[in-house]
Amino acid sequence: MARISAGLATSHVPAIGAAIDLGKTTEAYWQPVLAGYDFSRRWIAEHKPDVVVLVYNDHASAFSLELIPTFAIGCAESFAPADEGWGPRPVPTVQGHPDLAWHLAQSTILDEFDMTIVNRMDVDHGLTVPLSLLFGQPAAWPCRVVPLAVNVVQYPPPTGNRCYHLGKAIRKAVESFDQDLKVMVWGTGGMSHQLQGPRAGLINRDFDTRFLDRLTTDPEGLARLPHVDYVREAGSEGIELVMWLIMRGALHADAREVYRFYHVPASNTAVGHIILENPR
Ligand code: DHB
Ligand code: FE
Repeated sequence: MARISAGLATSHVPAIGAAIDLGKTTEAYWQPVLAGYDFSRRWIAEHKPDVVVLVYNDHASAFSLELIPTFAIGCAESFAPADEGWGPRPVPTVQGHPDLAWHLAQSTILDEFDMTIVNRMDVDHGLTVPLSLLFGQPAAWPCRVVPLAVNVVQYPPPTGNRCYHLGKAIRKAVESFDQDLKVMVWGTGGMSHQLQGPRAGLINRDFDTRFLDRLTTDPEGLARLPHVDYVREAGSEGIELVMWLIMRGALHADAREVYRFYHVPASNTAVGHIILENPR
């Protein structure tokens, strides 16, 4: 049977992708950002997943304001890199896992989560920057990826609580999949940031620290945080953090924090990263 071994969450700042792609990671601005992932690259090499269910948001690369699925699962064989801003990143095509993705779709939809099934989709920095942070610059990504896109761009995004419970449904689905696979669930986005308006550049270290603490120790309580608190305290784009609760819901209640990194700033954001392991 398949099982979820661990989860992690990380910011997906597009400028980090550009820094990696343009060979700027040893520059003074970027070196401490990348150094925060040194542990994680060693850790994942030791705990290599077969598949990552990668929770992210699209930034108008695959979907536009014409079509905005709340939760969309990528069931294709592969997903090509695409992006706004700097353009498609020069990174490998992402290989999917259609059997697992269809099983996840079936199981979660029958558990009353109305997932959108996507059979063709390009993937942007929301998905590829986390892969680069954890795996570096390989010729091919070392595992399969099931993309799970969440609307955090157009109001109303799903609640944190809905995300947390979707995570639980994903865990049930993975644990009922009849192939012997080691699966990780990743949540991306965050931490506090606001990209536009009079509060552009907002960063809230206290909020971010409390969020990281509660993600491990009080996920049920954290899941009940209303949208307005994210926006007020973590900025308009801080709402991306609801995606981390999908990862958390997919793990055991007593998952253990094995690593944490927090750094300000990268581009206009606070970079946050956490690794949680399930008990064996
Ligand atoms: C930026 C964009 C993002 O999508 C994000 O999650 C963080 C930062 C940016 O443009 O700086
Ligand atoms: Fe983003």
